[in-house]
Amino acid sequence: MQSVPSKALERLWRVLAALLICKVTVSVLWNYRDYLPPDFSAAFLIGREGYFFGSYSWAFYPHILAGPCTLIIGLLLLSERFRRRFPKWHRILGRIQVACVLLLVAPSGLWMARYAETGAVAAVGFATLAILTGASAVLGWRLAVQRRFAEHRRWMWRCYILLCSAVVLRLLGGLATVADVGADWPYQFAAWISWMVPLSIFELTGFLKRRARLE
Ligand code: HEM
Repeated sequence: MQSVPSKALERLWRVLAALLICKVTVSVLWNYRDYLPPDFSAAFLIGREGYFFGSYSWAFYPHILAGPCTLIIGLLLLSERFRRRFPKWHRILGRIQVACVLLLVAPSGLWMARYAETGAVAAVGFATLAILTGASAVLGWRLAVQRRFAEHRRWMWRCYILLCSAVVLRLLGGLATVADVGADWPYQFAAWISWMVPLSIFELTGFLKRRARLE
């Protein structure tokens, strides 16, 4: 069993992480003034005018609409308190979340990966991320339908951690700007570590908790 201080510490971490996710989501939304209508002198859109109005915009707009929704809905879905108090809402929001991930965020992310800034290394990182996010949503959803709730929770945590790569990527982008690194490699590196590191930490802590329970 967890001690009281370690439970309090875990709770504090969760509150801080939730605040950080909300803060980054608000700053992402703030940038939408450059996208509606598209301003091709804005950082993300520089050099994209040639292909933007084709299939790219059909992926881009659903992506930037659904992405922030999944981050906020995910916070509610992972809250034990919310699930206990509002089980019906947990189920409704859960279905909305899975639909957003499978129909909008993952497929649009996969399509946009082809055009990733800095080229193939980042593109493969984002494409892998899109496939893993979609796969974890499918698995988590199927486990809920089969009423295997402990495994359902673990897969939904994985799915959310993968979605939060969008937050980590922007924090790493901020660091690269502060450090004034002008090269391509920080972005290419970030396209991979923004999801690999948080996912590895989750798997490691899960493993250590399970081992401690067996001792
Ligand atoms: C986990 C699945 C996701 C994948 C695979 C993915 C993939 C991508 C890709 C490939 C790009 C273009 C990057 C480039 O051209 O360099 C992009 C841009 C973008 N993504 Fe995602 N993304 C995911 C989740 C999210 C989430 C959860 C959000 C919510 C904030 C989000 C918000 C955005 C926004 C706003 C952009 C436009 C660029 C910007 O304003 O920073 N994405 N995404």
